[in-house]
Amino acid sequence: MPTLSTDIRSHFPIFAWHSREKKPFYYLDNAATTLKPLTVIDTVRDYYSKYSSNIHRGLYPIAVKASNAYEDARTKVQHFLNAAHPEEIVFTSGSTASLNLLASSWAGHMLQEGDEILLSPMEHHANLVPWQQISAQKNLHLRFLPLDAEGNLQLDQLDSFDSSSIKLISIVHISNTLGHINDIGTIIGWAKKRDIRVIVDAAQSVTLYPLDVQKLDMDFLVCSGHKMFGPTGIGILYGKKEWLQAMPPYLSGGDMIKKVGLYESTFADPPHKFEAGTPPIAEAIGLGAAIDFLNYLDRPALLNELDQLTTYAMEQLRSVPDLEILGKAPKRSHIISFTMNGIHPHDIATFLAQDGIAIRAGHHCTQPLMEHFGIGASARASLSIYNTAEEIDALAGALQQIQSFFNS
Ligand code: ALA
Repeated sequence: MPTLSTDIRSHFPIFAWHSREKKPFYYLDNAATTLKPLTVIDTVRDYYSKYSSNIHRGLYPIAVKASNAYEDARTKVQHFLNAAHPEEIVFTSGSTASLNLLASSWAGHMLQEGDEILLSPMEHHANLVPWQQISAQKNLHLRFLPLDAEGNLQLDQLDSFDSSSIKLISIVHISNTLGHINDIGTIIGWAKKRDIRVIVDAAQSVTLYPLDVQKLDMDFLVCSGHKMFGPTGIGILYGKKEWLQAMPPYLSGGDMIKKVGLYESTFADPPHKFEAGTPPIAEAIGLGAAIDFLNYLDRPALLNELDQLTTYAMEQLRSVPDLEILGKAPKRSHIISFTMNGIHPHDIATFLAQDGIAIRAGHHCTQPLMEHFGIGASARASLSIYNTAEEIDALAGALQQIQSFFNS
């Protein structure tokens, strides 16, 4: 049985709280959001209790401190992704906002009628609906990479695509529903040979998988702070400087301008051009603390341990009668979707909740993928660095009981 480093749990105060309250707590919904380490909570509280102020405006000490902390957080993200310049990091409210910004500002201004955008049927709705909206406005066409029966992208079919009108590929790195790891290196390599821009949705991967935006030659990457042990309400858009410079603003208003006249205005350089209004200051600074926490961890070792825990979880789940794991991938992460014959996923999640086991059930914002598998919903357990084999045993045991209950 694999053992994850137990001292990791001591960084997350939510475990101690549940233990003090004698409430069972098995948190297996990490693809929805991760728990927060004390250092992130303290950093956010410090901002509010010691130097709460607006940024880029005030000249008094706490405003200068807040502005510096916000820009330091940007530099931490830059180094974490190995972006070439801090200006290539735009703070948004999350992956969804980053993708909407790209659809409106990049596709809305750079693409012409008849241009094509290549997606996959496993995209989260956030990487699908914005492209549908902009395509309807501009008469663009959406095309989709095919999936095999097990939910794997059929990348061997890339060469059969007529790529002459494809201008953009927007693709998820790790599926939030299946946990499949897509070979983004191959996709980017194919796209680059054809002068096609690539967006990588790294919401489920950026935390533990090393993503070097320069080495991978990504044009854009999006991710969310709250899935990286950071606060909610903060997201990242990485974009190559040349593209961000060429793109028009998305939201307009204060703090994104150079000069405003009554009838026209000029705009600040990136990233501020895309950060109109008061940004999520506490959240950005908290994200900086989350990046510090990630840098403090031995991420390759934790990834290795988590891979072993996931293998153990798959074995335990397979031992539950009539339970089927969705999809089979040559490479997968720590997300396991499953169905149980004749039992609705919402019933599974509700029964598990009574034992203090938190999972997600539903379509996971991937309805086309559900359709591909001929189902409306699945149950999903998703693991992170603080999960243990005991929690997996609790899940498998509870699923056995649910099965017996429904069969009796
Ligand atoms: N996108 C998040 C999930 O997959 C919320 O649960």
